[in-house]
Amino acid sequence: MSEFDQCEGLRSDVAPAPEGWEPRIVAFLCYWCSYTGADNAGTARLKYPPNVDIIRVMCSGRIDPELVMTAFARGADGVMVCGCHIGDCHYIAGNHKTMARMPLLSRVLADLGLEEGRFVHEWVSAAEGEKFAKLVRCVTEQVRRLGPLDWPGRMRERGVGRGLEPAAVGGLR
Ligand code: FES
Repeated sequence: MSEFDQCEGLRSDVAPAPEGWEPRIVAFLCYWCSYTGADNAGTARLKYPPNVDIIRVMCSGRIDPELVMTAFARGADGVMVCGCHIGDCHYIAGNHKTMARMPLLSRVLADLGLEEGRFVHEWVSAAEGEKFAKLVRCVTEQVRRLGPLDWPGRMRERGVGRGLEPAAVGGLR
């Protein structure tokens, strides 16, 4: 059994990714729980791929959908949003906003043609280093199977997203 057998919903119906290509994942983590969970994973020396760029925010309620769209527009192949479990938010109800926004954002992204698995929203507590490491492994593998995204290119093809081209937002990578 490979370690990815434990990842739910991994797709196998996609073409292999280009050789040498590595997915780039952006993870927005709330400071009080999920970032500490990621730290915990590091301290416990749990292995996860180096493909993830972590952006720390004070609360997941701070994560405006526009930040997620901007990450895709600037070259992310996958985006993760993680915050405290419901009831644990340091700001009491910040993650209630997250809980309302992220499913809506997910539907908008799906309407725009984003494949399932490129955008993931999950609760990760400070004690869940193991969960964080597994989540990164699974998301990275899922995105690797889906291949490069090229969101600006896709949006150009669809005739939407003007103003989000790399040059307009300061360049990619
Ligand atoms: S502080 Fe973690 S979700 Fe609000």
